[in-house]
Amino acid sequence: MWRASQRWAPFAAAAALPLLPKAPARAEAADDKMHRSTLLERETSIKRRDVRSAPTRMRNIVSDEHRRDGLIQWLKTMMHHSFVLGMPGTYAGTWQTFEDMVEEHRARSHTGKSRLQQMVPSVGTFHTPLPVTRAWRDYDSKYCTSRRKYVPPTFNEIRHILNLAQLMALAADLKVISFDGDQTLYSDGQNFESDDLAALLIGLLKDGVTVVVMTAAGYGWDGPKYEHRLAGLLKHFKANLTPQEMSNFIVVGGECNYMMVANAEARLERLPDDRIAPLSCNQPLTWEQHEVDRMLDLAETCIVNAIEEMHLRARIIRKPRSVGVIPGGEAGKLAQPHGHGSLKLKYEALDEIALRVEDEIAAANPPFLLPYCSFNGGRDAWIDVGTKGIGMEVMQAMLDIPAAQSLHVGDQFLRTGNDIAARHVAPCCWITSPAETTKILSHLCKYRRIRVPDLGSAPKVQGDSGFDVYTGLSK
Ligand code: IMP
Ligand code: MG
Repeated sequence: MWRASQRWAPFAAAAALPLLPKAPARAEAADDKMHRSTLLERETSIKRRDVRSAPTRMRNIVSDEHRRDGLIQWLKTMMHHSFVLGMPGTYAGTWQTFEDMVEEHRARSHTGKSRLQQMVPSVGTFHTPLPVTRAWRDYDSKYCTSRRKYVPPTFNEIRHILNLAQLMALAADLKVISFDGDQTLYSDGQNFESDDLAALLIGLLKDGVTVVVMTAAGYGWDGPKYEHRLAGLLKHFKANLTPQEMSNFIVVGGECNYMMVANAEARLERLPDDRIAPLSCNQPLTWEQHEVDRMLDLAETCIVNAIEEMHLRARIIRKPRSVGVIPGGEAGKLAQPHGHGSLKLKYEALDEIALRVEDEIAAANPPFLLPYCSFNGGRDAWIDVGTKGIGMEVMQAMLDIPAAQSLHVGDQFLRTGNDIAARHVAPCCWITSPAETTKILSHLCKYRRIRVPDLGSAPKVQGDSGFDVYTGLSK
């Protein structure tokens, strides 16, 4: 629901995953078939549930809660009252009531249910006060939402106001900011390319803020692979930052598993273990590989079953700390002649996989103690051992920074997303595209009075050839 349309472009998926030539595809399909049939024979909790359930009993989970955000949904309903009554002056009062409820919730977070929690059972932690009344006034004075007579405040507008309030609350104290990669700093599956975004990030680094790219994409500690995706940012570092400032740029790959830091040459090198090992926080480096494998084996079995049941033309990728499912290309077509998904897997199927695996892992015996996230990446679904919450905790411990001085910016805050895990440990901004990230960083830099450097980039060429698409006249 929140993904930009380009996320669905079938050819983008194909470009990221070159199609396999015919002959290897057949060989791979045969191997894959054998591997799958072994996994298909395995017992899973979903299979056991299917067998146990009487036909008359409802056995599926009828809910689309995983596609909603309880708090924003509730705020939308509250705003609707002012809209329906035609009383624009009352919007500010509703925001003020919410602001007070957040304060009460923060004060009572350890002692019973707050009023807010009674209204929105899924509400999480607020790490700072939330000046939403001020944010609403600023927003409304620009966009005149309250003047509308036919269109009430929307989900996205409420999301923007919450983001703005979050920035207002912590701008002055911010010490570390982490960014999701895909769809936050660059389009899905693409590389960093925005000079505007680069200028804002460099402005923050020059202002003493530690900037972290916290991505699910896991390439071990292979610096050049992350450098490849971030080249559009790193190329500006040497001309604009001192080595000291560069050392405040960190990349965390595989959710929280692989940490790297920029050196004086703007190259990424492994963050020394001795900077992490002494910290009293969750330590991904110490997780037992056999337990990681037990979790990934279970996830893979579940994925294989799901592929078979939903006739998905999909390919499985297994890594040391993750297992994922991606469009299957030609090999996928051979394995599932009547299926779908060789170029693009349906969002619904990816959600189903993410939720099934989550259920399997929750039902495992002996239970798993390892943190994990099972998520729909839009073009793919993954089960990663570790979460961005842990990545952020490690950053906070390493830099000795409390939650209220940190911020995570990401695009995946629904239940089947992988940014949501950061919410437990840090304030968050929920964006939906790199353009929105640019917008909120402009606000942040304005609140901190940061002078954003001019990177001397070539000016953008507007439009195509001086032809005005609205009037048909030449400009
Ligand atoms: P993020 O939005 O920066 O967290 O990146 C999520 C995307 O990274 C996924 O949707 C995948 O396309 C990609 N990715 C690459 N390797 C991995 C992995 O090992 N685990 C999870 N996602 C991965
Ligand atoms: Mg993302």
